[in-house]
Amino acid sequence: MKRQISNLINSGLNPIGLQLDRFRDPVDPGNSYMSDERMRESLVVQLAGLAMEELASVFKSGKTTEESMKDDVRVFLELFKECPIGQNSGGSGFHNLFWIYMSARVCRPDLIVESGIWRGKATWFLERACPDAEIHAFDINLGYIDKRNYKRVKFVESDWWSYGVSVEQGQSALAFFDCHISHMLRISQAHERGFTRVLLDDDLPVEKLYVDGSPPVPTANMIVNGYSGDSKIECVHRGNIMNLDLGTKGDRETLASLVDTYRTFASVAELSGYGGYTRLSALTLL
Ligand SMILES: C[S@@+](CC[C@H](N)C(=O)[O-])C[C@H]1O[C@@H](n2cnc3c(N)ncnc32)[C@H](O)[C@@H]1O
Repeated sequence: MKRQISNLINSGLNPIGLQLDRFRDPVDPGNSYMSDERMRESLVVQLAGLAMEELASVFKSGKTTEESMKDDVRVFLELFKECPIGQNSGGSGFHNLFWIYMSARVCRPDLIVESGIWRGKATWFLERACPDAEIHAFDINLGYIDKRNYKRVKFVESDWWSYGVSVEQGQSALAFFDCHISHMLRISQAHERGFTRVLLDDDLPVEKLYVDGSPPVPTANMIVNGYSGDSKIECVHRGNIMNLDLGTKGDRETLASLVDTYRTFASVAELSGYGGYTRLSALTLL
């Protein structure tokens, strides 16, 4: 009966390009997991092993051990069940949240800036990862945030650049940019404000820019890998033509010279069976 009704509605919607579809939460540790503790532990060991390898190559921390990494993975998987922000389409899924949480645990920053927070799911995980950190969360539209879910986060409805947050002497800091603004701009701003550890989402290589409706070009991937092609490029996303400005070769090279280490995180989907968009990168600046 339900199917007949939805077919009837769709027969009206389809001619104008719309479709009624049943929404299903993606498979994640909040709704799908091994009840058997030993089997669950095997996933913890695998994820911690990967995190150790990936994070050691970009964010070095003397305090991280294999045991602390496993503890962090266990807590992360439990937090997924508690997180009050459920379905997060348009924002971070399991892959991003795993790397954001683990990066924050390894970096142990006193100061965190997140630009582009959407429903605040990554913000929630950042606050759990670093309960004592000063967290500034920026978005040009805070209309999707329920502030009651956070204890210490300072939400600001503006672009982070127009707000005077910067790293003070002796402070350890982490910046996360997920606002679809040029990575070139965000990296240079982060450098100017004293941030040396940066996470960047939507870090697409030039030949895959069509994947995103608003790619943050030039991306860190293009900068670090020395993209030397044209300054303008056209691609098509879901039928819409995008004319993208990729900056000048000189500007990209100047910025590349500030980058010390760089890594696009390996997908955790194969290990875990949990998915999500996988274009999150980490870099450190000189
Ligand atoms: C992909 S969503 C962020 C997802 C979120 N970080 C998460 O992990 O779930 C992009 C967000 O960037 C915001 N945005 C767009 N321009 C911005 C700007 N200049 N500064 C801060 N946020 C911006 C949008 O309003 C949107 O909420």
